[in-house]
Amino acid sequence: MTQRPLIAVVGAGLMGHGIAWIFAAAGSPVRLHDPSPEARATAPAKLSEISALLGRGAQAAERVTLCVTLNEAVAGAGFVFEAAPENLALKREIFAELCRLAPPDAVLCTNTSALPIGQISQGLACADRIVGTHFWNPPHLVPLVEVVEVEGVNGAAIAPVMALLAAAGRHPVHVRKDVPGFIGNRLQHALKREAIALVAAGVCDAETVDDVVKLGFGRRLAVLGPLEQSDLVGLDLTVAIHETLMPDLDRTDRVHPYLAARVAAGELGMRTGQGFRRWTAESAAAVRKRLADFLAESARAETQEQES
Ligand SMILES: NC(=O)c1ccc[n+]([C@@H]2O[C@H](COP(=O)([O-])OP(=O)(O)OC[C@H]3O[C@@H](n4cnc5c(N)ncnc54)[C@H](O)[C@@H]3O)[C@@H](O)[C@H]2O)c1
Repeated sequence: MTQRPLIAVVGAGLMGHGIAWIFAAAGSPVRLHDPSPEARATAPAKLSEISALLGRGAQAAERVTLCVTLNEAVAGAGFVFEAAPENLALKREIFAELCRLAPPDAVLCTNTSALPIGQISQGLACADRIVGTHFWNPPHLVPLVEVVEVEGVNGAAIAPVMALLAAAGRHPVHVRKDVPGFIGNRLQHALKREAIALVAAGVCDAETVDDVVKLGFGRRLAVLGPLEQSDLVGLDLTVAIHETLMPDLDRTDRVHPYLAARVAAGELGMRTGQGFRRWTAESAAAVRKRLADFLAESARAETQEQES
């Protein structure tokens, strides 16, 4: 077996411990740093839970070493994955430290959800080694990772990150320009803009929007992407539909007033019992369980497929 590079993960929260598990399960030694004693104390159990969920042995969790200092975590690392809170100033501080502390050839990755990578790396001495790697939650169950290039800055670092992720069983895609939201969140939120507008205009309620997606075109989305689907039915049909539809779709260019009003009224979703839809503790728990079961089942099936 080829030697796996040492991986450092910075931040052991929701995303960081899952990212650490992915590389450890692929055979890499992993150093996981978090300044919070609580995050460090709870990480081993969370790593073991993932192994149990995916029917894997104890080795993955055992390959992860918790580190109190950043210095200790990144010493000798080939790749660093930052998963600290979504705050530009904090991330810039962390990357300035990483430029100084990590080995000079280490690739430094950020798991930001939406911050432009160029804003994180701007002016830093190691900007050419700073790459966006946008994992999806939970990272050990959702295979996609968007690998973000900052044009003219970090091009040489993209291929090694893509290769590392593929070797760890992920599905990396190359985002060639550092656009806000990368690819996945732009698509997801374009859909949400129209969903909110339909409810705000009284065309249907929120439950109906969700049913239309889940029971309609959502059924095939996991196996047929939107552009594949257009090719399947023919681009002439897509043109015919767009001629009617495009002038009518919502084009609100800010937070939709209907969404802003929900938040202003304290309607934050499952957390407060009311968002777009009404929730009880039981119905919210049922949705979470349904999602976790579905994702775990898909991940187990994928692992079996790869192993057979
Ligand atoms: N949660 C998601 O669905 C999701 C999905 C994709 C990307 N992301 C992104 O991943 C990153 C982490 O998000 P999360 O949901 O895991 O957050 P989280 O709050 O669960 O975890 C963040 C961790 O970082 C630690 N931390 C704080 N300051 C630190 C520092 N200076 N150095 C190292 N660690 C520090 C915290 O103690 C905490 O354990 C964010 O940029 C977020 O936008 C989140």
